[in-house]
Amino acid sequence: MGKWLHKSFILLISAVFLVGPAWLSAVDLKTATAIDQEIEKNRAEIIKIRRFLHMNPELSNREFETSKLVANKLTALGLQVKTGVAMTGVVGLLTGALPGPTVAIRADMDALPVEEQNTFPYKSLNPGVMHACGHDFHTSIALGTAMVLSNFKDKIPGKIKFIFQPAEEGAPPGEEGGADLMIRQGVLVDPPVRAIFGLHVWPDLRVGQAGYAPGYTMASSDSFTLTIKGKSAHGARPQEGIDAIVIATEVISNLQNISSRLVDPTEALVISIGKIQGGVRSNIIADKVVMEGTVRTLNPELRDKIPEIIEKIVAGICQGYGASYNLDYERQLPPVYNHPEFVKAVLPWLTQSLGEANVVEVKPQLVSEDFAFYATRIPAFYFFLGVKSPGQATTAPLHSPNFNPDEKAITIGIKAMCHLVLNALEQQASLKTQAETTSSN
Ligand code: NI
Repeated sequence: MGKWLHKSFILLISAVFLVGPAWLSAVDLKTATAIDQEIEKNRAEIIKIRRFLHMNPELSNREFETSKLVANKLTALGLQVKTGVAMTGVVGLLTGALPGPTVAIRADMDALPVEEQNTFPYKSLNPGVMHACGHDFHTSIALGTAMVLSNFKDKIPGKIKFIFQPAEEGAPPGEEGGADLMIRQGVLVDPPVRAIFGLHVWPDLRVGQAGYAPGYTMASSDSFTLTIKGKSAHGARPQEGIDAIVIATEVISNLQNISSRLVDPTEALVISIGKIQGGVRSNIIADKVVMEGTVRTLNPELRDKIPEIIEKIVAGICQGYGASYNLDYERQLPPVYNHPEFVKAVLPWLTQSLGEANVVEVKPQLVSEDFAFYATRIPAFYFFLGVKSPGQATTAPLHSPNFNPDEKAITIGIKAMCHLVLNALEQQASLKTQAETTSSN
């Protein structure tokens, strides 16, 4: 994220969101109770939808049935629906009776290539594919929010855009997809989106809780493939070859020194080599090693420096041994940014909906999320929704074949989203009037 964007963010946010205590919450007790009642009325259907999605998981850019279900439901609710956005994406627009700006909720829809090990009756029917990252929850929560809020149209000052996004886990090789493609296809314009909300189910937090981190909350994620080319020789005559395996070990241990010796050690930085391949036989010097790694940071400036540092280390070591190399570095996702000023505005809304004790600040996470693409363009708030059952010490982690989030979290997510968007719209609508008054003075 460039400096310009930081400045424009601060201006936008301070102009739009920093307001007096009178604006702390637009959802009065009566509306809050009505939201709870609507959630209760729709609970059974929402759980049914979630279980259907869980039984029928679809991989990235192949969310055909999921997308159909979402589009049909949104159409039935009377929303304006666009399909085929970024392949299988769906966008629903709920137009309130009162004039005002547009805010968005984003849910990802794709599943993972994981063979489910759970044994409950609604386990995956798709061999080798599973909603192991809870995107069935995210989709159900956004749909549920649309179901509830479509009953409040006459009170809504503005529009709510429901963004159902494909391929958060990454498009298949050779394809485009996900948040970046949705943005390029205009999801944040027409009407322009002022602020966006997203969540992820979180097994470290118990049901009822929500966690957030102000600032950079999830990491950037880039990947690289490094090929080291040496020279083959008899294993007993290494002086006649160039040992790509020995060079690879030097490279790997030196890459680990980057975070402690070459950059500010207080900055979060992870470089992991997850795959390495090389050699043909125990007594032959390997002429080639290919390794693949991932790089995570919580700082865009640090992120920009890493490719050059890696290249220098690799070049230096290879030169020393007379080897050559090829480094293919691919920038993928920026870090997810919750602007601290926006977080300040949003927190009272979240605590009002879930209770003060249930909203906890958590550490930033070095996993990544393509929600980051929205958050580098407009004010965004991304939070973690607790899914650990009460009394359970631990739950299976995200991406595990045993992942089994507590379904009670779904209605809690819906409630939080309803409060967040209603408050954001109400505040922005009121402030627009204020700003207009000020500018005419
Ligand atoms: Ni996920």
